[in-house]
Parts: sequence; structure tokens; C-alpha cells
Amino acid sequence: MEEYSASVHAALPVHVAVIMDGNGRWAAGRGLPRSEGHRQGAKVFRQICEYGADRGIGYLTFYAFSTENWSRPQEEIASIMALFRDYLQEARERREENEARGFRLRFIGDRSALPADIVSLVETCERESLHQTRTTVNLAVNYGSRLEIVASVRRIAERVARGELKPSDITPADIEQGLYTAGQPDPDLIIRPSGENRLSNFLLWQAAYSEFWFSDVLWPDFTPAHFDMALADFAQRKRRFGGIEAVQKNI
Ligand code: IPE
Ligand code: IPE
Ligand code: MG
Repeated sequence: MEEYSASVHAALPVHVAVIMDGNGRWAAGRGLPRSEGHRQGAKVFRQICEYGADRGIGYLTFYAFSTENWSRPQEEIASIMALFRDYLQEARERREENEARGFRLRFIGDRSALPADIVSLVETCERESLHQTRTTVNLAVNYGSRLEIVASVRRIAERVARGELKPSDITPADIEQGLYTAGQPDPDLIIRPSGENRLSNFLLWQAAYSEFWFSDVLWPDFTPAHFDMALADFAQRKRRFGGIEAVQKNI
């Protein structure tokens, strides 16, 4: 057993990203409205966020609402926004506790489409936790990877149009600098529960060399034990980054 935990520790991912999927099916399976699934999912988010930080993960990213999720019924969208608002208010109320944990809160996604009071809470939470360094928590709300890349490319095109940059000088670093995750390491491990084996427009650029861990468990049933299973699996992976030798790049 000791050996097992030692090997997990030896290859702990620096950045873990989670696609919080399966809330609707969890609720349907219990004859409950979908909003109940989201409510339970939000609780699990808080729990896994704290657990991940306690395990020493430096960056945790959670996919909460995609740019495509606006196609859902108004009522469901409103229930998700209400949960987001509750979380932000609670984060403010629990500021001291979050500071003790060293949480830096960041929100990735297009916030211009979010209700004004939510944007204001987001800005406050980001500002108040700016100086924290232990665990960065990115919450992806109205996030879509393709639009994120398009926005970055637009900024580059503007620099080219102003004559500041030559097209032949554009590098991957220029694209990276325009992403919401600029300055953060790429995710080492991406976890997706709910039985779906796809990215659904999540971190397409950043996931170039990510390891994936899929599970049939629905997000509201996800526990720290599942998180540990993903970490243990990650520790066994051989990451080669195109070379021939396995590299433990992110220890
Ligand atoms: C994830 O759960 C939450 C969001 C996408 C907002 P879903 O609501 O997609 O749950 P399923 O996939 O329908 O079960
Ligand atoms: C992905 O889940 C987005 C989030 C978890 C926020 P979806 O339920 O929207 O993904 P698809 O539609 O099944 O691909
Ligand atoms: Mg889903």
C-alpha cells in the first residue's frame, strides 16, 4: 500500500482538468428535475476542488457551462446561473477559509454574456484571491475552446495589421498568450465522468499532450476515491511527448 501511494506521489499531475458531466442523467435516474442534478453536481464540485487542493494539485480546472449549453431550456440555464451565483457569494463569505487553503480563483470563458451581478462577483473573487499561489482554481463558465482560439488569433491579426508582428514570426507562444489560460501549465490530466469519451470543445489547444481518464460514473456520484483512481492511473502512464523515452515532465 505504501509503495502504491509513493508511486502516485512520484507522478502527481500539476494541472488536472475536469469535465463535470452527467448531472441531468443522475437526476433523471431518480425521477428528479435536471436542476437537482446540477445542485448535487455543484456540491461535488466544492468537495473535489478542496480534495484536489489537499492532494497538492497546483491547478484545477472545472468545466461548468459551455458556449453550446445556451441551447438548453431557459429554465435549466437559469438554475445553473443561480448555482454559479450561490457559489460566488459563498466564496466571498468563506474568504478566510479559502485564503487558508491558498485558493486563487479564476474564471475562464466569455463573461460578456453572463448576468451583470455574476460578472461583478467574478471580478471581486478574482481580485481578492489574486495574491494566492498554492492552488489555482479555474472555473470554466460560458467557455468554448474554438471561440477562445479565435479571440487569440484576432488579437494576433490586429498586431499584424498594426505592423507590430510579421506573419512569419507568429509562434505557438503568441496563440497561448491570448488564451484564458495564458501563463498556466497545460493540463496533465483531463477527467471526464458520465461515460462520454469526448472533449466537447474543452481546452482543445491546451490538451495537445494531456492524459485522459474516462469513467462511467455520473458527476454527482463522483467521489475523492474516483479522483484518486484517476491520479493512480496517471502515475502509470508513459508520457513521451513525441520522443522515444518516457518523460516525467511535470513532477
Ligand atoms: C453537466 O451535466 C452540466 C452541464 C453541461 C451544464 P449535464 O447537464 O450535461 O448532464 P447530462 O449529460 O445531460 O446527464
Ligand atoms: C460538456 O458537457 C460541458 C460541461 C460539462 C460544462 P455537455 O453535456 O454539454 O457535452 P455534450 O453535449 O454531451 O458533448
Ligand atoms: Mg452532458
